[in-house]
Amino acid sequence: MSSVRRSASEAESRRANRADWDRYADEYQATHGDFLGDIGFLWGPEGHTEDTLALLGQVAGRDVLEVGSGAGQCSRWVRARGGRPVGLDLSFRQLQHARRIDVETGVEVPSVQGTATHLPFADASFDVVFSSFGALQFVRDIDQAVADVARVLRRPGRFAFSITHPTRWMFPDDPGEGGLVAEQSYWDATPYVEVDPETGDTLYVEHHRTIGDWVRLLHRHGFTLVDIAEPQWPSDHDRVWGGWSRTRGMLTPGTAIYVADRLA
Ligand SMILES: C[S@@+](CC[C@H](N)C(=O)[O-])C[C@H]1O[C@@H](n2cnc3c(N)ncnc32)[C@H](O)[C@@H]1O
Repeated sequence: MSSVRRSASEAESRRANRADWDRYADEYQATHGDFLGDIGFLWGPEGHTEDTLALLGQVAGRDVLEVGSGAGQCSRWVRARGGRPVGLDLSFRQLQHARRIDVETGVEVPSVQGTATHLPFADASFDVVFSSFGALQFVRDIDQAVADVARVLRRPGRFAFSITHPTRWMFPDDPGEGGLVAEQSYWDATPYVEVDPETGDTLYVEHHRTIGDWVRLLHRHGFTLVDIAEPQWPSDHDRVWGGWSRTRGMLTPGTAIYVADRLA
């Protein structure tokens, strides 16, 4: 695998990331499943949960959509608290894991295969839409994705999502000291693309927006920004997850959680 910075269309991003998550799903669930918890709502590798951050507001009795739901751990948490969740994910293998855990736990969440840029739901279907490190940083047509969230939300309705903190874009994805030295511009939004050096196939694509880009994007689609949570690294937390580690987490934010409302 080699990585480059170059443009990537929505279709290319979707094709590459679907195949990547299908390939990676078994390893991902084996490595992180216990930490995620089968009925657990984790907002990011720092380990903060919805139980403690309470960013979604009330979910009991509400229709809730999880975009990029993976194996459905967060949606199962919503279900266990009396909500009516639905999951949507690009990867069939991730959804197979969701089904497996549904059966194992007896807490079942309906989920569909699809993409964040074409939500297959009627207008005003949900009270809450959320994504925990789900689709948003894998999508190129982010205006389309946020417009679709606005469309399927009732008013009032809440949209909350966690992403890699935009400032991490400047640093190599290294959990050690190497990950503390900025080596590229925060403002250069040229996508990160992984390529198979033998075939030239695109293997993975990630898209970057600055903090201000996200604020303007939400504003454009009629959202009122409520919060940008930047959870701190807990002093007793030692888990390494990809580029997230105590070494970096004590100095720089690794996760940003945007919370925004469509008002009545
Ligand atoms: C890091 S996982 C997050 C899922 C879950 N919250 C977790 O922590 O395991 C990212 C998920 O986003 C999904 N995804 C990537 N691009 C997507 C897209 N365009 N539309 C919907 N889901 C997408 C992937 O298939 C993957 O399951």
